[in-house]
Amino acid sequence: MERKGAMVVVVLLCLAVVIELPEASATRYLVGGKMGWTSNVNYTIWAQDKHFYNGDWLFFVYDRNQNDVLEVNQTNYVSCNAEHPLHNWTTGAGRDIVPLNEPRHYYFISSNGFCYSGMKIAVKVENMP
Ligand SMILES: *[C@@H]1O[C@H](CO)[C@@H](O)[C@H](O)[C@H]1NC(C)=O
Ligand SMILES: *[C@@H]1O[C@H](CO)[C@@H](O)[C@H](O)[C@H]1NC(C)=O
Ligand SMILES: *[C@@H]1O[C@H](CO)[C@@H](O)[C@H](O)[C@H]1NC(C)=O
Repeated sequence: MERKGAMVVVVLLCLAVVIELPEASATRYLVGGKMGWTSNVNYTIWAQDKHFYNGDWLFFVYDRNQNDVLEVNQTNYVSCNAEHPLHNWTTGAGRDIVPLNEPRHYYFISSNGFCYSGMKIAVKVENMP
């Protein structure tokens, strides 16, 4: 009886591992942690101890009345130029999810000058080793 119970547990554990594998390999990052997407956070420092892999997600939570999430190229990231976004990820709810599904550098800024007060983030996405 006890042995049968143990077997059932082992089988269930194996099933759980198999089922959870695809999700366990993807991480959803809350940009800025508890601070979220806001002014006066240094997102270079926030990102520097993290590894972003193909399949991960960035979750931007912010004040929808003031800010947005625009993907730009490196030049426009450096200069805070929001005139030519590659992609506008703003949905209007102040909670935007961006899939990182290519191994490359991604650059995001908030427009209306907020980029100058720190609302800019660059992440390097790599394939899972
Ligand atoms: C963020 O911190 C990095 C590393 O300390 C620094 O080089 C950079 O100038 C800072 N960025 C801002 C916008 O203050
Ligand atoms: C970024 O786009 C601008 C046009 O908006 C272009 O002038 C610049 O060369 C581009 N930079 C890169 C690194 O592709
Ligand atoms: C981005 O999309 C949002 C929602 O559709 C829109 O309100 C906003 O004006 C757009 N921003 C830019 C810079 O295109």
